[in-house]
Amino acid sequence: PKIVYVATDGSQRVVDAVAGESVMMAATRHGVPGIVAECGGNASCATCHVYVRPESLPLVGEPNDTEEDLLDLAVTERREGSRLGCQIEMTEELDGLTVDIPPVQP
Ligand code: FES
Repeated sequence: PKIVYVATDGSQRVVDAVAGESVMMAATRHGVPGIVAECGGNASCATCHVYVRPESLPLVGEPNDTEEDLLDLAVTERREGSRLGCQIEMTEELDGLTVDIPPVQP
């Protein structure tokens, strides 16, 4: 499944993800700037914060409890589509998932 990462300047990076990997993993594997992932995917750093586009939200679903708490601590403002990239697992159904990368990720 493909993931589209949109930078704050509007530039897009399309990445071929593997089903089962996370949105964070696919980004770091392809060197997408702005996804830092300090904790390596343990849902403890919030530096993999992404904004899921509204059209994809129903497919991605709600953040889990750990994610909820961490998103409040993320450096960039929390919005409706805020999710931790390491907690979104890619599936074929999510093909074409588009996420915005926050302006700052420590
Ligand atoms: Fe640290 Fe996602 S990589 S919370």
